[in-house]
Amino acid sequence: MQKYIISGGRPLNGTVSISGAKNAAVAIIPAALMVRGVCRIENLPDISDTDTLLRVLEIMGASVRMINRTTVELDCTSVSLDGLSEEVWALTRRIRASYYLIGAMLGRFGRACSTMPGGCNFGVRPIDQHIKGLNALGANVRVDGGFIRARAENGRLRGARIYLDKVSVGATINIMIAAATAEGRTVIENVAREPHIVDLANFLNSMGADVRGAGTDVIKVRGVPSLHGGTYALIPDQIEAGTYMAAVAAAGGCVRIENVIPKHLDCISSKLREMNVEIEDGDDYVVVRRDGLLCHADVKTMPYPGFPTDMQPQIGAVLCCASGISAVTEGVWDNRFKYFEELRKMGATVKVDGRTAIIIGVDRLTGATVRACDLRAGAAVVIAGLAAKGVTRVEDVQYIERGYEDIVGKLRALGAEIRCVDEPDEPTSRRTDWLAG
Ligand code: EPU
Repeated sequence: MQKYIISGGRPLNGTVSISGAKNAAVAIIPAALMVRGVCRIENLPDISDTDTLLRVLEIMGASVRMINRTTVELDCTSVSLDGLSEEVWALTRRIRASYYLIGAMLGRFGRACSTMPGGCNFGVRPIDQHIKGLNALGANVRVDGGFIRARAENGRLRGARIYLDKVSVGATINIMIAAATAEGRTVIENVAREPHIVDLANFLNSMGADVRGAGTDVIKVRGVPSLHGGTYALIPDQIEAGTYMAAVAAAGGCVRIENVIPKHLDCISSKLREMNVEIEDGDDYVVVRRDGLLCHADVKTMPYPGFPTDMQPQIGAVLCCASGISAVTEGVWDNRFKYFEELRKMGATVKVDGRTAIIIGVDRLTGATVRACDLRAGAAVVIAGLAAKGVTRVEDVQYIERGYEDIVGKLRALGAEIRCVDEPDEPTSRRTDWLAG
């Protein structure tokens, strides 16, 4: 299996360019299923999750043409549900975002079928709000035998007023996609406001939909009969940018992080400034510098514009090297602290009590063999390895490559000593199926 070998303790310096947003891409590719005509998507991240979804559309009959590494032309005019097969299910089981295919198939065909989504294991990951929303739009949804099946009464969804009982990124996206071609008006209340929700709304609108209010807590969709082709460029990845910011904070140095929307990084920048990291905002870049001691800080994750849960492991790794005692509270997922087991192998001192972790910063972490428990947990151990004294070996890196484009190449260009090698696992390492999320 592939591993990363990191010789830590070198500061990061130079410039890194951020790729398109993973969580926008994994919503927009399924949404493209609704488009009749050629849909050109630019600034697509080159990661395994997008490859998986593009392959699903291809098996279902779409023409998928890569124009270059980050631009794809998709034509889903000839897609049909006849293409659904074991080959599709093997792919949809791997990724969380496959549930967006349900909203898109319902919107396009009035019927849908997919597997229950895979996903990083952060405790229970219910989909009741997705089902509530799709039911309200007139779909009869059944979950059995590991599959989700749905059918619209009279073959077409109809607009409705929907209140989400929980602020859910996934449910907001799925309902928005399905409502785009429903008959009449849909109002979705208490929605998520993450940047990729706005990106999806902009994508749908550029293909002829009428979606308003994305970025606020009420989204209004006036259904249109169908979506037409067009061109759309994805926003930069807020979490990839935050991950490089955290890496500089942990390893020290000075890095210009380009192709970002600094506004999307405000909550991350504020927290890092509290920790004695200097951050300068430009129009589409930030410069991150750390040369003094890191200070402790308390962090609580919340839906946007709060501190993102998808940055919690990376900031947790930085706090392990900060002076003093920090408290990290996870406000979104039940169980997103498994990565601390790995960081403890590197000398981190952490006590976890339910949804709060108390970290007592140490002067220096030390290299060890650790595994990427999931995508962001993987980023956290890489960050810890960059800051640590000695050599860190990171196993199960396939998780990391689901969501970070060329992380090894980007870090090497900043002066990190990191390389990817193919070697057998140590006998003690625990293996898991790498279903993704
Ligand atoms: N929830 C429900 N019912 C639902 C849906 C969600 O109770 O029907 C709860 C969840 O259990 C959780 C909270 O609502 O406690 C938020 O879940 P949400 O639906 O927002 O998460 P998601 O859509 O499954 C996406 C990202 C995650 C990210 C979360 C929160 C994708 C593919 N995944 O997941 O990203 O952590 O939003 O921001 O967009 C990652 O990129 O590493 C990742 C895991």
